[in-house]
Amino acid sequence: MTDTIFRSRSLGTPAEGLRDQYADGKAARVWEIFIGDKNSRTQNYRNFLTGLLRSRGCKRILDVACGTGIDSVLLLEEGFEVVSVDASDKMLKYALKTRWARRKETAFDNWIIEEANWLTLYDDIEQHIGDGFDAVICLGNSFAHMMDSFGDQREQRLAIKNFEKCVKHGGLLLIDHRNYEYIIKSGSTPSKCLYYNSKHMIDIKTSVLFEAGKPAMVMLDYIIDASGVLRTRDSNKEDDVSEFRLSYYPHQLETFKVMLLEAFGTKSSYKLFGDFKSLEKAENPNFFIHLVEKL
Ligand SMILES: C[S@@+](CC[C@H](N)C(=O)[O-])C[C@H]1O[C@@H](n2cnc3c(N)ncnc32)[C@H](O)[C@@H]1O
Repeated sequence: MTDTIFRSRSLGTPAEGLRDQYADGKAARVWEIFIGDKNSRTQNYRNFLTGLLRSRGCKRILDVACGTGIDSVLLLEEGFEVVSVDASDKMLKYALKTRWARRKETAFDNWIIEEANWLTLYDDIEQHIGDGFDAVICLGNSFAHMMDSFGDQREQRLAIKNFEKCVKHGGLLLIDHRNYEYIIKSGSTPSKCLYYNSKHMIDIKTSVLFEAGKPAMVMLDYIIDASGVLRTRDSNKEDDVSEFRLSYYPHQLETFKVMLLEAFGTKSSYKLFGDFKSLEKAENPNFFIHLVEKL
């Protein structure tokens, strides 16, 4: 069941585009449960990501939305060198804990984790960029966290330009978003996520906010079965069901592709995947994954 909200005003100030939706710490705690065991990424996803990076000879990877560290850990375990950044200290806390717990493994001891925002990314991590990374990844529907505060997607363009500046010549950007066209048309979001093997997911409730007749924000309420794994902060009692909301900018496929090619130049090579397959093989995919090579 979808809720549809209509609004005629703009969505707010630039500060809203930068808002950390994980700041209260709750979504970060529940996200850890949602994504499940860090070792249990779906095999499809693991094969797709590592296969693609290896086939292009990538070794040094920048994960610009590392969150609690799930993709970065997968890549470190597979022998890649990783720099991980995120704007949310509440999410980074989990990545930092993992690095500390596994510090005796060389890959983890060398793992660089920094707090950085996509709008200032280049300046935030300049000392780690060198000649550029072999690949920059922004996965797990992360980029859609950035709203369109000015109504012309200028912050999103700036963020993508900053990603481009971190990629070396011949290097890659791998960036995804949910299939928002399908979500808006069907009014629902599939609760089985292709990326995670979560045993705790119950449902995702979908609300769409329209502004001046156009979809401007999609709000997803994640309903998680947290029995036995999450304790409430104030009481020490177990929560059976936990719910958290994340808001997303509903990217349109063609517009997104144009933004990428604007930042990387029209001569760059571009490929689109649906649910980790070539697009022809994926009907109404849940996720689109864009691959751009900087030439
Ligand atoms: C849905 S989480 C995904 C994290 C991880 N890739 C995964 O699959 O679990 C999205 C992450 O993007 C980060 N993020 C959102 N906006 C950001 C920004 N402007 N700069 C840096 N990180 C941002 C959030 O803090 C959050 O940790």
